[in-house]
Amino acid sequence: MAINLKIQLAPHNKRGLLLANPVMTASGTFGYGTEYEHLFDIQKLGAIVCKGTTLQPREGNPQPRIVETASGMLNSIGWQNIGIEALIKQKAPIWAKWRVPVIVNIAGKTINEYAKLAARLDGVKGIGGLEVNISCPNVKAGGVEFGADAKSAAKVTTAVRKATSLPVIMKLTPTTNDIVGIARAVAEAGADGVCLINTLKGMAIDVKTRKPVLGNIFGGLSGPAIKPVALAMVYQVAEAVNIPIIGCGGITTATDALEVIMAGATAVEIGTANFSNPRAPMDILEGLKKYLRKENVQDIRQLIGVARRGSLHSPSL
Ligand SMILES: Cc1cc2nc3c(=O)[nH]c(=O)nc-3n(C[C@H](O)[C@H](O)[C@H](O)COP(=O)(O)O)c2cc1C
Repeated sequence: MAINLKIQLAPHNKRGLLLANPVMTASGTFGYGTEYEHLFDIQKLGAIVCKGTTLQPREGNPQPRIVETASGMLNSIGWQNIGIEALIKQKAPIWAKWRVPVIVNIAGKTINEYAKLAARLDGVKGIGGLEVNISCPNVKAGGVEFGADAKSAAKVTTAVRKATSLPVIMKLTPTTNDIVGIARAVAEAGADGVCLINTLKGMAIDVKTRKPVLGNIFGGLSGPAIKPVALAMVYQVAEAVNIPIIGCGGITTATDALEVIMAGATAVEIGTANFSNPRAPMDILEGLKKYLRKENVQDIRQLIGVARRGSLHSPSL
């Protein structure tokens, strides 16, 4: 049976963002894509989201910056990256030759910085879209401070929207009690899609030294432990907005990806799973194909949101 895995991530954008399949990699867990080329055919992925990029290069937070937790990890990388100019010079020309679209994750300390980043990337060959990180818990200024309420999230969205014609995906934080309000606000401000979720703020303490483990004290919790949180947020937001949702958070297997799609996500991002299995995105893609064939589902889009109350799709298919 011929199956369709293609999805459109930016249906309301003139350029559009057509993906060969819904399996993407999450920012900060897959470098610039080039690092994984020797491990598998990364061109087969739906899309690659690169490491969070700022106007200036950044060294990030003090070490240690990573610690394993029960069913997940904490990280406090703190936006270590090569900066926008090096990205345009060194990475974009490589991406321009790829079949797989690359989405640049951007992060700023002020609304103006977000706008500058978006304007600078507009029209650069090799860049398929922007993912705007307003949800990082590991930096002192910027990040989650913009994502925690609907008004400021909308302000960043408006500024980025004005600065670029590229598809704009707003990446939201789970650290709020108003995920639906924030998603609605960014959709109304012109976002082409939303990605949820980023990490949850957490910490670890070493009982021998009696001190916090991470150099930054706090970090972002990710991995299987946060999947139920992501799932609930995708489900709630899917009922409230009509732009595509990218589900992210703890997705480790094809079954996880299917759950998130059934909750209402059009695509999924694989993050922490890449650290324990660098082929995870490929394995998940293969698993999705297998499921569709076995269940006689011709088009992955038939599964989007089927688990929701009042879903238009028949749950039995
Ligand atoms: C080491 C590490 C670095 C990350 N860096 C970024 C980043 O630069 N920008 C961003 O938006 N999210 C970043 N994230 C968050 C992930 O993209 C993802 O939203 C989060 O980890 C939840 O997904 P997961 O449980 O599959 O990892 C990072 C996560 C990890 C573990």
